[in-house]
Amino acid sequence: MDLRLAGKTALVTGSTSGIGFAVAKELLEEGVQVTICGRSQAKLDEAIAALKAFQPQAIVEGKLVNFENAASINSLIETMQPIDILVNNIGVFQSKSFDNTTDIDWEHMFQVNVMSGVRLSRHFLPQMILNNWGRIVFVSSECAQLVPADLIAYSATKAALLAISRGLAQTTKSTEVTVNAVLPGSTFTEGAKRFIAEQAQQQHKSDQQVIADFFKSERPASMLARFASVEEISKTIVYLTSPLALATNGATIKLDGGSVGGIV
Ligand SMILES: NC(=O)c1ccc[n+]([C@@H]2O[C@H](COP(=O)([O-])OP(=O)(O)OC[C@H]3O[C@@H](n4cnc5c(N)ncnc54)[C@H](OP(=O)(O)O)[C@@H]3O)[C@@H](O)[C@H]2O)c1
Repeated sequence: MDLRLAGKTALVTGSTSGIGFAVAKELLEEGVQVTICGRSQAKLDEAIAALKAFQPQAIVEGKLVNFENAASINSLIETMQPIDILVNNIGVFQSKSFDNTTDIDWEHMFQVNVMSGVRLSRHFLPQMILNNWGRIVFVSSECAQLVPADLIAYSATKAALLAISRGLAQTTKSTEVTVNAVLPGSTFTEGAKRFIAEQAQQQHKSDQQVIADFFKSERPASMLARFASVEEISKTIVYLTSPLALATNGATIKLDGGSVGGIV
């Protein structure tokens, strides 16, 4: 299907790997000019080389940024032209009990997961509204609604994104700008692989056993009953960035394999 995205410009955060990389790859396939970003020049170069290997004509550039740091985000913004599409994908998590989650952990997750999207949206959304066209997608998580006991701080950041997304959508009335959020479930990314390997080491189990136990005890309502692939998440995100998705605005789209439950 032609998503009618050719010629648009996009910034995808947290895009040297995982869901962000898959979103960047699919946007490039649709003819979008994409800016990816990350903290390491080596990883950016590697990601750009991989993207160009898929799509030799791709117009893709890499920007160094640390989303923990407001000054670094400001520096990124200063180097950017107005964009059509912003995918606020960056997100980090720490699996810790509430008691062991320090102020520094809370601050870190709020800066990276929430304030990155706040700062970028504050800069880019007014330009989209002036231009009468734009797309912002916030990548939240099933954890915003499930709130696992070992991920309370992370879940709070992901719930905050839902309020921000909905609130910003309400500022787009009578324009062709939309702001939406997606709730991915457990997805087989580099971050997930690290989490599984850590659990396997701590619990003296194989990775496969950790995955089976995880879906049995932590995500019993998942109808997918396995990790989603990054493409199973990124395709919906890319659709939401397209002109075809104009009627979806202020929405929270579940990509959780059924784990959250409920009829809406
Ligand atoms: N994976 C899941 O199971 C899952 C489930 C639900 C929701 N989500 C959400 O989906 C989004 C993507 O997750 P993912 O698993 O695909 O991530 P990931 O594989 O862990 O990718 C991390 C990306 O973030 C970048 N990054 C990390 N910290 C950064 C920082 N301080 N500043 C700038 N860049 C930074 C990394 O770049 P460098 O290392 O190159 O700096 C890399 O590009 C996140 O918002 C996550 O919360 C994921």
